[in-house]
Amino acid sequence: MNRTLIETADGSLTLFVPALNEHFHSTHGALQEADHVFIQNGVACKNHLDSIRILEMGLGTGINAFLTMAWAKSYLGMVTYVGIEAFPVEEFLIDSCLQAAGCEDPLERSFFSQASYGKTQELGNFRFLPRNAKWEEVDYTHEFDVVFYDAFGPRAQEEMWSMDNLERAYHALGTGGLFTTYCAKGQVKRNLKALGFEIRSLPGPPGKREMTQAIKV
Ligand SMILES: C[S@@+](CC[C@H](N)C(=O)[O-])C[C@H]1O[C@@H](n2cnc3c(N)ncnc32)[C@H](O)[C@@H]1O
Repeated sequence: MNRTLIETADGSLTLFVPALNEHFHSTHGALQEADHVFIQNGVACKNHLDSIRILEMGLGTGINAFLTMAWAKSYLGMVTYVGIEAFPVEEFLIDSCLQAAGCEDPLERSFFSQASYGKTQELGNFRFLPRNAKWEEVDYTHEFDVVFYDAFGPRAQEEMWSMDNLERAYHALGTGGLFTTYCAKGQVKRNLKALGFEIRSLPGPPGKREMTQAIKV
């Protein structure tokens, strides 16, 4: 898959996929979007738990994983992070994006490199398991507290927002589990509701009106 680096409005970098005419993050600010959707309205909502297990659909550059690792430094419990990625991103692209996101330590950056796929690594209270797999092959049941659903948008990759694929996230979560995504499309919210999620439409990151949180009740 051909991917090129571009700078976003907050100075952080993201990738553009010409074949899909789609970006990995919001061009209004990749870092701001990741922090708003996946940290503040994602893992931080579960800081009352003794430990937190996160499943990410679409690990990509690892920006969400890196921000979670940084967040975990002020959290006392263990954070386990499983990232699913069908098309691992080239080393130099990951390196550039993470550096621009504030990951200055080369050792920390190597944690998110292509070479780490298939391995379990630990740094302090952060346990990281990147998996080179298609979401369609994933089959977890009641194993996670949070799902970061960071697929390409419905215009570019409609199938990732189908009932079948969203149901994988529903099954992966335990009761009370939290699904978070930047996507606020009506049909996606209706699909999530039909699966049994309780939907919360929240203000979006800069440049986007809304985002979606869904709770497995
Ligand atoms: C919007 S980008 C995710 C950005 C990523 N979270 C980051 O911080 O860089 C979507 C990601 O999903 C991956 N992807 C696309 N189809 C997939 C599939 N069927 N299974 C797993 N990953 C997939 C893409 O390769 C891409 O890395």
